[in-house]
Amino acid sequence: MSEQHTPAQTQAPRKILVTAALPYANGPTHLGHLVEYIQTDIWSRFQKMRGHTCTYVCADDAHGTAISLHAEKQGITPEESVARVNKERIADFGDFHVEFDNYHSTHCEENRELSSSIYLALKEKGHIASRSIVQAYDPEKKMFLADRYIKGECPKCGAKDQYGDNCEVCSATYSPTDLKNPFSTISGATPIEKESEHFFFKLTDFQEFLKGWTRSGTIKDETANKLAEWLDSGLQDWDISRDAPYFGFEIPGEPDKYFYVWLDAPIGYMASFKNLCDRTEGLDWDEYWKKDSDCEVHHFIGKDIVNFHCLFWPAMLEGAGFRTPTKVSVHGYLTINGEKMSKSRGTFITARTYLGHLNPEYLRYYYAAKLSSRVDDIDFNTSDFMQRVNSDLVGKVVNIASRNAGFIAKRFGGQLSGTDCAPELTKAYMEASESIAQSYENREYGKAMREIMALADKANAWIDEVKPWVVAKEEGKDQELHNICSTGINLFRLLMIYLKPVLPDMAEKAAAFLKVESLNWSDSQNLLFNHNINKFKPLMTRVEQKNVDGMMEDAKKLLESMAAATPKAEKSEQSEINKEPLAEEIEFGDFAKTDLRIAKIVNAEHVEGAAKLLRLTLDIGEEKTRNVFAGIKAAYAPEALIGKHTVMVANLKPRKMKFGMSEGMVLAAGPGGKDLWILEPHEGAKPGMRVM
Ligand code: 2FM
Ligand code: ZN
Repeated sequence: MSEQHTPAQTQAPRKILVTAALPYANGPTHLGHLVEYIQTDIWSRFQKMRGHTCTYVCADDAHGTAISLHAEKQGITPEESVARVNKERIADFGDFHVEFDNYHSTHCEENRELSSSIYLALKEKGHIASRSIVQAYDPEKKMFLADRYIKGECPKCGAKDQYGDNCEVCSATYSPTDLKNPFSTISGATPIEKESEHFFFKLTDFQEFLKGWTRSGTIKDETANKLAEWLDSGLQDWDISRDAPYFGFEIPGEPDKYFYVWLDAPIGYMASFKNLCDRTEGLDWDEYWKKDSDCEVHHFIGKDIVNFHCLFWPAMLEGAGFRTPTKVSVHGYLTINGEKMSKSRGTFITARTYLGHLNPEYLRYYYAAKLSSRVDDIDFNTSDFMQRVNSDLVGKVVNIASRNAGFIAKRFGGQLSGTDCAPELTKAYMEASESIAQSYENREYGKAMREIMALADKANAWIDEVKPWVVAKEEGKDQELHNICSTGINLFRLLMIYLKPVLPDMAEKAAAFLKVESLNWSDSQNLLFNHNINKFKPLMTRVEQKNVDGMMEDAKKLLESMAAATPKAEKSEQSEINKEPLAEEIEFGDFAKTDLRIAKIVNAEHVEGAAKLLRLTLDIGEEKTRNVFAGIKAAYAPEALIGKHTVMVANLKPRKMKFGMSEGMVLAAGPGGKDLWILEPHEGAKPGMRVM
């Protein structure tokens, strides 16, 4: 049973499309990415809780040279590489409870059609120009080179290996043509200059439109002021074509000319939504994208891509006759312990590394606590992270439930009482609903978290004052105890409603504990009376120092293994093997911990994209076979291994590798490379036998 205190909010339902920037389809998902996807997810979940129709779409940004080079390195096609990354991204985001309504790819039919039709509409209205330009060209690879694929010696100080725009040694700035002894970073060839025809979007046609659009409440002043520097000094036409070979969409009517990745990337927002609309009853693509639509379109982006989203994109939409975005929300970068996230500093933490050690909701809460609507960078400070999660979520919020739930179960058969014994407090909780909602709406999550934690403090102070554990021991005070604990549980419930956009998993567990269907925003205006609840199970445990340390160590290890995967490192690693001294002495107990087993290799195969690994399927007499990756590709053809018996470490903790889970390790001897032999036991040894 529940009781209504104040009327639920009465705002007309909105139709909202929300997007986060489409991540490039290369490289692993890292904590920097997650700032944006989590920030957007919180906003989308909040809108849904408020009863609005909110659709959160995203996609992989699949085109361009970086993507095709990434695929080439793995020895697979760009399509295969993109499909692989797509799977990983969906798994990574899902594990952080980022709930997209659709996660698509820019390399899809919907996007090809939309990109072509937008381009043709712009062309028809005279917004496309063409002219010849001269560019650096790699004569070996037979492709034009963007500046970032050219290196050479600094024209000023002579430092080697400098990029085409500035010198990292003497800070001189220059253009790529000034570099001495330039070379293509792709093939090593000396670039030549070559002319070709390019197509341009005449951004200048939209100068006045953009001046208005950027000041119409679509972006915050701090961002509009930055853009004004460009807008006031005069815009330039935007080069939207690239010559073949290029992984992307061919420009209609222009053979061997492709759309530049940034032309079709934002159209990918429309394409992902179209893909969803086409299979969803009641979701009408035109209704959202037509000019003068009543629906809302919100983009969340990082500060590095503001010009694409706040100049090129609205101009393209305006020029092609579509509506423009309602809002573009811009966030800053993530730093780790005050430093830029970087591979060389060992502060590059992938989503997987984090998940190997820590609960994703810790990170969601920590980001929420630090996020505001400003463009400031946010810092992932590991000790602050531990302290905040432990003190706020475990120490304040979960504590309220655990201080009261035991008595409800043990003394009152799991039933809440019918009396609110702290009406002023519950009233304050309910009244906070709108101001917390405002903070979520305005992306002032840090402010929302502070308000929620201030409420939690009040509840804990009240519990300290009324002391249920003392009342519990007093004769004839059952009713009082029942009312106190029931009120405490109700306060906990209201906090969980307010925290649900940030902590969806914990909110789900809380709903199960409270035996309620769901927790919606309007539920914050009533209390549970005479209602049965379940037994309380801890909803969140403390962050432990050892887990944070484990994550940081794994991040370093991953970087080391990435560095070791380079050919140069491979060589020096191999020559070290023979010189390796014997490892230090261990106790018999240490040795006894390894569970060595006879394994039958029932299958062996190449691993796509892995230079050294074979995937082995091992039978050790268990119901399930084991999947193990072994670095023996240079020594064995897979066919030669199938049917052989060997020895494996069967109790090695499964390890998540780039290509999947490795569930053990096979034993082999030799200096490495071609010279490596797996251990083969005598006949008679059967799968599963213990090796002693
Ligand atoms: O900067 C980036 O990571 C781009 N892949 C973002 C694209 S957002 C949108 F326009 F597609
Ligand atoms: Zn220099």
